[in-house]
Amino acid sequence: MNATDMLEDVKLLDSHPSEGDIAAEIIAGLLKTQKTLPPKYFYDKRGSELFDDITELDEYYPTRTEIGIMTKHVADMAKHIGPQASLIEFGSGSSAKTGHLLNAMDKPAAYVPVEISKDHLINAARRIAEQYRHVEVLPVCADFTQPFELPVPAVMPERNIVFFPGSTVGNFYPDEARTLMQTMARIAKKGGGLLIGVDLKKDKSILEAAYNDAKGVTREFNLNILKRINRELNGDFNLDTFVHRAVYNEEMGRVEMHLVSNTFQTVKIGHHTVQFAKDEYILTECSHKFTVDQFAARAFEAGFRKEQVWVDDKQLFSVHFYSCEGA
Ligand code: AVI
Repeated sequence: MNATDMLEDVKLLDSHPSEGDIAAEIIAGLLKTQKTLPPKYFYDKRGSELFDDITELDEYYPTRTEIGIMTKHVADMAKHIGPQASLIEFGSGSSAKTGHLLNAMDKPAAYVPVEISKDHLINAARRIAEQYRHVEVLPVCADFTQPFELPVPAVMPERNIVFFPGSTVGNFYPDEARTLMQTMARIAKKGGGLLIGVDLKKDKSILEAAYNDAKGVTREFNLNILKRINRELNGDFNLDTFVHRAVYNEEMGRVEMHLVSNTFQTVKIGHHTVQFAKDEYILTECSHKFTVDQFAARAFEAGFRKEQVWVDDKQLFSVHFYSCEGA
Protein backbone atom coordinates (compact mmCIF):
# COMPACT_ATOMS: atom_id res chain seq x y z
CA MET A 1 0.00 0.00 0.00
CA ASN A 2 1.26 3.47 -0.87
CA ALA A 3 0.75 6.42 1.40
CA THR A 4 1.69 10.00 0.80
CA ASP A 5 2.54 11.77 4.05
CA MET A 6 3.10 15.46 4.32
CA LEU A 7 6.09 15.88 6.61
CA GLU A 8 6.41 19.53 7.62
CA ASP A 9 8.35 20.31 4.45
CA VAL A 10 8.70 17.27 2.15
CA LYS A 11 6.05 14.95 0.75
CA LEU A 12 6.93 11.29 1.34
CA LEU A 13 5.65 8.48 -0.87
CA ASP A 14 5.90 5.42 1.35
CA SER A 15 5.50 1.93 -0.11
CA HIS A 16 6.30 0.42 3.31
CA PRO A 17 9.06 -1.85 2.01
CA SER A 18 10.04 -4.83 4.10
CA GLU A 19 13.77 -5.41 4.27
CA GLY A 20 13.13 -9.07 3.51
CA ASP A 21 12.79 -12.07 5.74
CA ILE A 22 16.18 -11.81 7.40
CA ALA A 23 15.93 -15.16 9.22
CA ALA A 24 14.87 -17.15 6.14
CA GLU A 25 17.43 -15.49 3.84
CA ILE A 26 20.31 -15.93 6.25
CA ILE A 27 19.56 -19.57 7.05
CA ALA A 28 19.06 -20.37 3.34
CA GLY A 29 22.46 -18.84 2.53
CA LEU A 30 24.27 -20.70 5.30
CA LEU A 31 22.77 -24.03 4.27
CA LYS A 32 24.17 -23.81 0.70
CA THR A 33 27.23 -25.84 -0.29
CA GLN A 34 29.09 -22.55 -0.74
CA LYS A 35 27.84 -20.67 2.30
CA THR A 36 26.75 -17.10 1.51
CA LEU A 37 25.13 -14.16 3.29
CA PRO A 38 23.12 -11.42 1.54
CA PRO A 39 25.30 -8.26 1.63
CA LYS A 40 22.26 -6.02 2.16
CA TYR A 41 22.29 -7.21 5.79
CA PHE A 42 25.66 -5.51 6.39
CA TYR A 43 23.88 -2.19 6.75
CA ASP A 44 22.44 -2.08 10.25
CA LYS A 45 23.23 1.08 12.24
CA ARG A 46 26.80 0.04 13.05
CA GLY A 47 27.37 -1.40 9.56
CA SER A 48 26.28 1.86 7.93
CA GLU A 49 28.66 3.81 10.19
CA LEU A 50 31.49 1.42 9.33
CA PHE A 51 30.76 1.78 5.62
CA ASP A 52 30.93 5.58 5.99
CA ASP A 53 34.34 5.09 7.63
CA ILE A 54 35.45 2.82 4.78
CA THR A 55 34.72 5.55 2.24
CA GLU A 56 37.34 7.74 3.94
CA LEU A 57 40.14 5.16 4.11
CA ASP A 58 43.35 5.84 2.19
CA GLU A 59 43.14 2.47 0.46
CA TYR A 60 39.45 2.76 -0.51
CA TYR A 61 39.74 4.85 -3.68
CA PRO A 62 36.19 4.51 -5.17
CA THR A 63 34.28 7.17 -3.21
CA ARG A 64 36.86 9.91 -3.42
CA THR A 65 37.65 9.14 -7.06
CA GLU A 66 34.00 9.20 -8.08
CA ILE A 67 33.46 12.52 -6.27
CA GLY A 68 36.55 13.87 -8.07
CA ILE A 69 35.16 12.83 -11.47
CA MET A 70 31.74 14.27 -10.70
CA THR A 71 33.16 17.56 -9.47
CA LYS A 72 35.37 17.95 -12.51
CA HIS A 73 32.74 17.05 -15.12
CA VAL A 74 29.51 18.14 -13.49
CA ALA A 75 28.77 20.80 -16.12
CA ASP A 76 29.20 18.27 -18.91
CA MET A 77 27.02 15.77 -17.03
CA ALA A 78 24.31 18.41 -16.65
CA LYS A 79 24.44 19.03 -20.42
CA HIS A 80 23.80 15.36 -21.11
CA ILE A 81 20.97 15.36 -18.57
CA GLY A 82 19.30 18.32 -20.29
CA PRO A 83 16.73 20.87 -19.07
CA GLN A 84 13.81 20.23 -16.74
CA ALA A 85 14.75 16.66 -15.88
CA SER A 86 13.62 14.69 -12.87
CA LEU A 87 16.63 13.15 -11.08
CA ILE A 88 15.73 9.79 -9.52
CA GLU A 89 18.43 8.45 -7.22
CA PHE A 90 18.39 4.71 -6.42
CA GLY A 91 19.54 3.85 -2.88
CA SER A 92 20.08 7.53 -2.12
CA GLY A 93 21.22 7.07 1.53
CA SER A 94 22.43 10.47 2.68
CA SER A 95 22.26 11.93 -0.89
CA ALA A 96 25.90 12.95 -0.46
CA LYS A 97 26.75 13.04 -4.16
CA THR A 98 23.64 14.85 -5.37
CA GLY A 99 24.12 18.50 -4.45
CA HIS A 100 26.65 19.47 -7.13
CA LEU A 101 24.55 17.84 -9.79
CA LEU A 102 21.33 19.61 -8.76
CA ASN A 103 23.19 22.92 -8.79
CA ALA A 104 24.57 22.31 -12.26
CA MET A 105 21.31 21.00 -13.80
CA ASP A 106 19.20 23.33 -15.92
CA LYS A 107 15.84 23.93 -14.14
CA PRO A 108 15.55 20.48 -12.51
CA ALA A 109 11.88 19.41 -12.37
CA ALA A 110 12.35 17.31 -9.24
CA TYR A 111 14.75 15.29 -7.13
CA VAL A 112 13.36 11.86 -6.21
CA PRO A 113 15.55 10.01 -3.69
CA VAL A 114 14.54 6.32 -3.39
CA GLU A 115 15.72 4.61 -0.23
CA ILE A 116 14.60 1.70 1.95
CA SER A 117 15.74 3.27 5.23
CA LYS A 118 13.04 5.81 6.08
CA ASP A 119 15.03 7.79 8.68
CA HIS A 120 17.98 8.21 6.35
CA LEU A 121 15.65 9.19 3.53
CA ILE A 122 13.70 11.82 5.43
CA ASN A 123 16.81 13.45 6.90
CA ALA A 124 18.53 13.61 3.53
CA ALA A 125 15.39 14.84 1.73
CA ARG A 126 14.95 17.65 4.26
CA ARG A 127 18.59 18.67 3.92
CA ILE A 128 18.40 18.78 0.12
CA ALA A 129 15.06 20.63 0.17
CA GLU A 130 16.56 23.19 2.53
CA GLN A 131 19.75 23.68 0.52
CA TYR A 132 18.30 23.56 -2.99
CA ARG A 133 15.12 25.55 -2.66
CA HIS A 134 14.61 25.73 -6.42
CA VAL A 135 14.17 21.94 -6.60
CA GLU A 136 11.03 20.01 -5.65
CA VAL A 137 12.16 17.10 -3.46
CA LEU A 138 9.87 14.05 -3.56
CA PRO A 139 11.30 11.20 -1.46
CA VAL A 140 10.13 7.63 -2.04
CA CYS A 141 10.56 5.01 0.68
CA ALA A 142 10.91 1.79 -1.32
CA ASP A 143 13.14 -1.17 -2.09
CA PHE A 144 14.56 -0.16 -5.46
CA THR A 145 15.06 -3.80 -6.49
CA GLN A 146 11.26 -4.20 -6.50
CA PRO A 147 8.76 -2.30 -8.68
CA PHE A 148 7.78 1.01 -7.05
CA GLU A 149 5.59 3.97 -7.94
CA LEU A 150 6.99 7.38 -8.89
CA PRO A 151 5.56 10.60 -7.43
CA VAL A 152 4.21 13.23 -9.84
CA PRO A 153 6.14 16.52 -9.68
CA ALA A 154 4.35 19.88 -9.90
CA VAL A 155 6.36 20.67 -13.04
CA MET A 156 6.05 18.03 -15.76
CA PRO A 157 9.59 16.58 -16.28
CA GLU A 158 11.07 16.65 -19.79
CA ARG A 159 12.81 13.35 -18.98
CA ASN A 160 13.60 10.99 -16.12
CA ILE A 161 17.25 10.50 -15.23
CA VAL A 162 18.13 7.56 -12.99
CA PHE A 163 21.19 8.30 -10.84
CA PHE A 164 23.04 5.34 -9.27
CA PRO A 165 26.48 6.36 -7.99
CA GLY A 166 29.01 4.42 -5.89
CA SER A 167 29.37 1.34 -8.12
CA THR A 168 26.75 -0.34 -5.96
CA VAL A 169 25.70 -2.09 -9.17
CA GLY A 170 28.87 -4.18 -8.66
CA ASN A 171 27.45 -5.73 -5.48
CA PHE A 172 24.71 -7.49 -7.47
CA TYR A 173 25.26 -10.87 -9.11
CA PRO A 174 24.99 -10.65 -12.92
CA ASP A 175 21.37 -11.91 -13.05
CA GLU A 176 20.29 -9.49 -10.34
CA ALA A 177 22.15 -6.62 -12.00
CA ARG A 178 20.35 -7.39 -15.27
CA THR A 179 16.95 -7.24 -13.54
CA LEU A 180 17.93 -4.04 -11.74
CA MET A 181 19.01 -2.34 -14.97
CA GLN A 182 15.71 -3.35 -16.57
CA THR A 183 13.91 -1.73 -13.63
CA MET A 184 16.00 1.41 -14.21
CA ALA A 185 15.03 1.41 -17.88
CA ARG A 186 11.34 1.18 -16.95
CA ILE A 187 11.74 4.16 -14.59
CA ALA A 188 13.82 6.24 -17.05
CA LYS A 189 11.45 5.37 -19.93
CA LYS A 190 12.25 5.91 -23.60
CA GLY A 191 14.00 9.25 -23.97
CA GLY A 192 15.25 9.22 -20.35
CA GLY A 193 18.77 8.60 -19.11
CA LEU A 194 21.02 6.82 -16.63
CA LEU A 195 23.99 8.33 -14.79
CA ILE A 196 25.87 5.52 -13.05
CA GLY A 197 29.18 5.03 -11.20
CA VAL A 198 31.15 1.93 -12.23
CA ASP A 199 34.36 0.71 -10.60
CA LEU A 200 36.99 -0.40 -13.11
CA LYS A 201 39.17 -3.49 -13.41
CA LYS A 202 42.71 -2.76 -12.34
CA ASP A 203 45.81 -4.15 -10.73
CA LYS A 204 44.97 -6.85 -8.18
CA SER A 205 47.15 -5.22 -5.52
CA ILE A 206 45.12 -1.97 -5.59
CA LEU A 207 41.83 -3.87 -5.46
CA GLU A 208 42.85 -6.16 -2.64
CA ALA A 209 44.27 -3.28 -0.56
CA ALA A 210 40.94 -1.41 -0.89
CA TYR A 211 39.15 -4.29 0.87
CA ASN A 212 41.97 -5.17 3.32
CA ASP A 213 42.70 -1.79 4.89
CA ALA A 214 45.48 -1.42 7.42
CA LYS A 215 43.17 -0.01 10.13
CA GLY A 216 40.93 -3.10 9.96
CA VAL A 217 37.72 -1.14 9.31
CA THR A 218 36.66 -3.47 6.46
CA ARG A 219 37.40 -6.46 8.71
CA GLU A 220 35.07 -5.03 11.35
CA PHE A 221 32.44 -4.26 8.67
CA ASN A 222 32.58 -7.86 7.47
CA LEU A 223 32.43 -9.39 10.98
CA ASN A 224 29.62 -7.05 12.00
CA ILE A 225 27.16 -9.16 10.01
CA LEU A 226 27.83 -12.07 12.41
CA LYS A 227 27.20 -9.75 15.39
CA ARG A 228 23.90 -8.78 13.78
CA ILE A 229 22.92 -12.45 13.39
CA ASN A 230 23.80 -13.12 17.04
CA ARG A 231 21.72 -10.16 18.18
CA GLU A 232 18.70 -10.40 15.91
CA LEU A 233 18.44 -14.12 15.26
CA ASN A 234 19.70 -15.49 18.55
CA GLY A 235 22.94 -16.80 17.05
CA ASP A 236 26.09 -17.87 18.87
CA PHE A 237 28.84 -17.06 16.35
CA ASN A 238 32.15 -16.68 18.16
CA LEU A 239 33.74 -13.76 16.28
CA ASP A 240 37.23 -14.82 17.36
CA THR A 241 36.93 -17.94 15.24
CA PHE A 242 36.22 -16.15 11.93
CA VAL A 243 38.85 -14.34 9.90
CA HIS A 244 38.19 -11.56 7.36
CA ARG A 245 39.63 -12.21 3.89
CA ALA A 246 39.22 -10.21 0.67
CA VAL A 247 40.57 -11.55 -2.60
CA TYR A 248 40.27 -10.53 -6.23
CA ASN A 249 38.80 -13.39 -8.22
CA GLU A 250 40.26 -12.57 -11.62
CA GLU A 251 38.19 -15.10 -13.53
CA MET A 252 34.90 -13.73 -12.17
CA GLY A 253 36.12 -10.11 -12.25
CA ARG A 254 35.14 -9.46 -8.65
CA VAL A 255 36.55 -8.79 -5.22
CA GLU A 256 35.12 -11.39 -2.85
CA MET A 257 34.85 -10.86 0.88
CA HIS A 258 35.01 -14.02 2.94
CA LEU A 259 34.67 -14.94 6.61
CA VAL A 260 36.88 -17.96 7.13
CA SER A 261 36.29 -20.35 10.03
CA ASN A 262 39.65 -21.02 11.66
CA THR A 263 38.38 -24.21 13.32
CA PHE A 264 35.85 -27.03 12.94
CA GLN A 265 32.73 -25.77 14.70
CA THR A 266 28.94 -25.87 15.03
CA VAL A 267 27.07 -22.57 15.22
CA LYS A 268 23.50 -22.18 16.45
CA ILE A 269 21.12 -19.63 14.93
CA GLY A 270 17.79 -19.86 16.74
CA HIS A 271 16.82 -23.51 16.42
CA HIS A 272 19.06 -24.12 13.37
CA THR A 273 22.60 -25.48 13.49
CA VAL A 274 25.28 -24.84 10.89
CA GLN A 275 28.55 -26.75 10.73
CA PHE A 276 31.85 -25.31 9.55
CA ALA A 277 34.92 -27.29 8.56
CA LYS A 278 38.27 -25.73 9.42
CA ASP A 279 39.10 -23.14 6.67
CA GLU A 280 35.59 -23.25 5.26
CA TYR A 281 34.35 -19.77 4.41
CA ILE A 282 31.15 -17.74 4.03
CA LEU A 283 31.05 -15.60 0.87
CA THR A 284 29.66 -12.37 2.32
CA GLU A 285 30.02 -9.95 -0.61
CA CYS A 286 31.06 -9.72 -4.24
CA SER A 287 32.12 -6.40 -5.70
CA HIS A 288 32.23 -6.78 -9.48
CA LYS A 289 34.67 -4.68 -11.47
CA PHE A 290 34.22 -3.87 -15.16
CA THR A 291 35.93 -2.47 -18.21
CA VAL A 292 34.01 0.43 -19.75
CA ASP A 293 33.04 -1.72 -22.73
CA GLN A 294 31.92 -4.64 -20.58
CA PHE A 295 29.59 -2.42 -18.63
CA ALA A 296 28.27 -0.65 -21.74
CA ALA A 297 27.41 -4.06 -23.22
CA ARG A 298 25.41 -4.97 -20.09
CA ALA A 299 23.64 -1.62 -20.17
CA PHE A 300 22.84 -2.09 -23.87
CA GLU A 301 21.08 -5.39 -23.10
CA ALA A 302 18.79 -3.51 -20.70
CA GLY A 303 17.93 -0.82 -23.29
CA PHE A 304 20.58 1.83 -22.61
CA ARG A 305 22.86 3.38 -25.27
CA LYS A 306 26.21 4.81 -24.19
CA GLU A 307 26.52 8.60 -24.62
CA GLN A 308 29.54 9.52 -22.54
CA VAL A 309 31.98 8.03 -20.03
CA TRP A 310 34.19 10.06 -17.68
CA VAL A 311 37.26 8.42 -16.11
CA ASP A 312 39.86 9.78 -13.66
CA ASP A 313 43.50 10.20 -14.72
CA LYS A 314 44.58 6.97 -13.03
CA GLN A 315 41.71 5.06 -14.69
CA LEU A 316 40.47 3.75 -11.36
CA PHE A 317 36.77 4.60 -11.64
CA SER A 318 34.22 5.66 -14.24
CA VAL A 319 30.93 7.52 -14.42
CA HIS A 320 28.72 6.66 -17.41
CA PHE A 321 25.83 8.47 -19.05
CA TYR A 322 23.35 6.40 -21.08
CA SER A 323 20.21 7.35 -22.93
CA CYS A 324 17.27 4.99 -22.62
CA GLU A 325 15.87 3.49 -25.77
CA GLY A 326 12.96 1.85 -23.94
CA ALA A 327 12.50 -0.95 -21.39
C1 AVI B 1 28.69 -0.34 -1.43
N1 AVI B 1 29.71 -1.02 -2.25
C2 AVI B 1 29.84 -0.36 -3.55
C3 AVI B 1 30.99 -1.26 -1.57
C4 AVI B 1 31.98 -1.96 -2.53
O1 AVI B 1 33.08 -1.45 -2.69
O2 AVI B 1 31.63 -2.98 -3.11
C5 AVI B 1 30.80 -2.09 -0.32
C6 AVI B 1 32.10 -2.40 0.38
N2 AVI B 1 32.43 -3.55 0.89
C7 AVI B 1 33.62 -3.49 1.45
N3 AVI B 1 34.09 -2.28 1.28
C8 AVI B 1 33.14 -1.57 0.63
